[in-house]
Amino acid sequence: MTLTNVLTDLDLTMETLIKILDYSSDEIFVLNKNKKIIYVNDACTKHYGLNKEDVLGKMSSELVNDGYWYPSIFPEVLEGKKPITLKQTTILGAELLTSAVPILNDNNEVEIIVTTARELQSYKMLKIREKDSNQRKETENPFGSIMTNNEKMKNVLKFAKKAAAANSTLLILGESGTGKSILAQYIHENCSRKDGPFLTINCAAIPAELMESELFGYTAGSFTNANRSGKKGILESADGGTLFLDEIGDMPLPLQAKILQVIQEKKFIPIGGNKEKKVDIRIIAATNKELNTMVKNKTFREDLYYRLNVVDIKMVPLRERQEDIIPLIYNFLYKFNQIHEMNKLISKDCLEWLSHYSWPGNIRQLENLLERLVIVSDDVIGIDDLPEGIYNQSPLQVETTAPASLHQSIELAKKERVRKSYKVNKSSRRVAKDLQISQTYAAKLIREYCQDLSED
Ligand SMILES: Nc1ncnc2c1ncn2[C@@H]1O[C@H](COP(=O)(O)OP(=O)(O)O)[C@@H](O)[C@H]1O
Ligand SMILES: [Mg+2]
Repeated sequence: MTLTNVLTDLDLTMETLIKILDYSSDEIFVLNKNKKIIYVNDACTKHYGLNKEDVLGKMSSELVNDGYWYPSIFPEVLEGKKPITLKQTTILGAELLTSAVPILNDNNEVEIIVTTARELQSYKMLKIREKDSNQRKETENPFGSIMTNNEKMKNVLKFAKKAAAANSTLLILGESGTGKSILAQYIHENCSRKDGPFLTINCAAIPAELMESELFGYTAGSFTNANRSGKKGILESADGGTLFLDEIGDMPLPLQAKILQVIQEKKFIPIGGNKEKKVDIRIIAATNKELNTMVKNKTFREDLYYRLNVVDIKMVPLRERQEDIIPLIYNFLYKFNQIHEMNKLISKDCLEWLSHYSWPGNIRQLENLLERLVIVSDDVIGIDDLPEGIYNQSPLQVETTAPASLHQSIELAKKERVRKSYKVNKSSRRVAKDLQISQTYAAKLIREYCQDLSED
């Protein structure tokens, strides 16, 4: 019985066959002897951001020249008439393990080349998991979970490590989402108290009237609704370790006085009690508020400010460490792909866009955005998937007169470069080539910047 017969018997139509191929998570790609693409399955969209229709009938060299993947594999297969497997990187940043197999006719000539390409990412994940369980320490970066390529931030972290060893009270300043809380944790893990507790009280999240009992605890029967046997406060629980006073700018004034006393005298009296308790704690405080202005306005105690401010650490906002944006995006993309069991990629245009955004909510905002994008977007996260807030606030719409920041200057330079290229090249395709960006992004930039220059 021939295969064709079997197929007919099993009612396997051409339509079903095509469906089977399209549901394959590996890419299947077929060239004829002239290197023209005669078949490709749906996986090409997730690997290159191209629809089947954009690919079929094209010469493979055209796509290679446009940078859709690198390095090329077919010339060598045609010449050697032998299968080849190698690693390729695509325009969307996917890493593929590609195998090309030549199929020869009776005269030993190449008839077609059948290629399959599988994302290496899943292999990588497996490896990392293996390492995770065996030799975790080895793969960890020197700053724990804090990632940075920025010189200023590297200095901040080096300084923090030194300060950690000194065991003194510390004040961490910086905008919301810049990593103050994880830095506090890092400091604790790098000091002699690391085996002791690390406890946090977030002064912005706890109602003022509860904060005192949370911190100091109370003795049995000290107030009507209190637990009969009393309650241990965080100060006592943190004995031998670190107490992190997060958002200390939101601490009520009367409590500020009490905390200052604890810092200075290393002892306190629980609410309703009369016996002093000694504690050995290190205090790290953090805030996104301008404490010195608050001191001037008398909403923060001057004496506490100076006591905390002996050693201060200033976090760098994300917009001032642009080199960190893309690595952080990949880091969170990887993290949320794992958590949500997805395998999303991100387009180059989108990366470019995000790396020029101003990130008012800093790393927290970036992290939250990536989680959302992994959940809601199709296989490849693109600019169109960005929520309106971010898309609208994009620097591309920033006022173009009198640039105030480096950021705006960069935007101006970008605009000028695009307009110049468009005046000469007059098509998004050639502009894309000239500026080494994708055609979609070029078209977008042209719409944005070149409306007044006629297109034909
Ligand atoms: N350098 C960094 N690398 C990786 N993740 C970071 C980094 N800085 C901050 N994060 C993450 O960003 C989020 C916000 O950080 P957090 O320390 O809570 O900021 P803050 O306390 O300044 O508001 C957290 O989920 C944190 O893990
Ligand atoms: Mg915080």
